[in-house]
Amino acid sequence: MKILVVCLGNICRSPLAEGILASKLPEHFVVDSAGTISLHEGEQPDKRAVAVAHKYGIDISAQKSRPITPHDFQIYDYIFCMDRTVLHDVIELTDSEEERNKVSLFLEAAGMDVNNCEVKDPYWSDAEGFRETFELLNQASEAICNKLTSKAK
Ligand code: 4NP
Repeated sequence: MKILVVCLGNICRSPLAEGILASKLPEHFVVDSAGTISLHEGEQPDKRAVAVAHKYGIDISAQKSRPITPHDFQIYDYIFCMDRTVLHDVIELTDSEEERNKVSLFLEAAGMDVNNCEVKDPYWSDAEGFRETFELLNQASEAICNKLTSKAK
């Protein structure tokens, strides 16, 4: 089972979600993340994201930002988007119903009907904003892991 998490820059939200999901899922699951823009391509996650993950025992410092590509739709089984703008932009890249069906909102997949199912961008906030983002992603990741691991059985 292969999962791709997508946000805008791939330096704040989706790197955190990738690290959290990978820490919870069994090893045979593949987890990666990407952005809808290539502005930060090749960069490490934002320092504040690395710091909050580290506090919770997760190392995301080796990740590198990359943009999503059409090839990702062939590789991944689930493509989870952080907000509705990202969802829209990712759907625009799909080529078929089959590819479209892989794409959903991260919080919707988790069954969490909060914030209009959006994980808001913490980029313009502070350490507390990143902590809140981590908590939300952690709770949602737990729910997604439960769903995916019970499906895999
Ligand atoms: P992310 O946050 O989508 O959670 O990685 C952002 C980081 C950088 C920018 C936008 C969003 N930016 O425009 O530089």
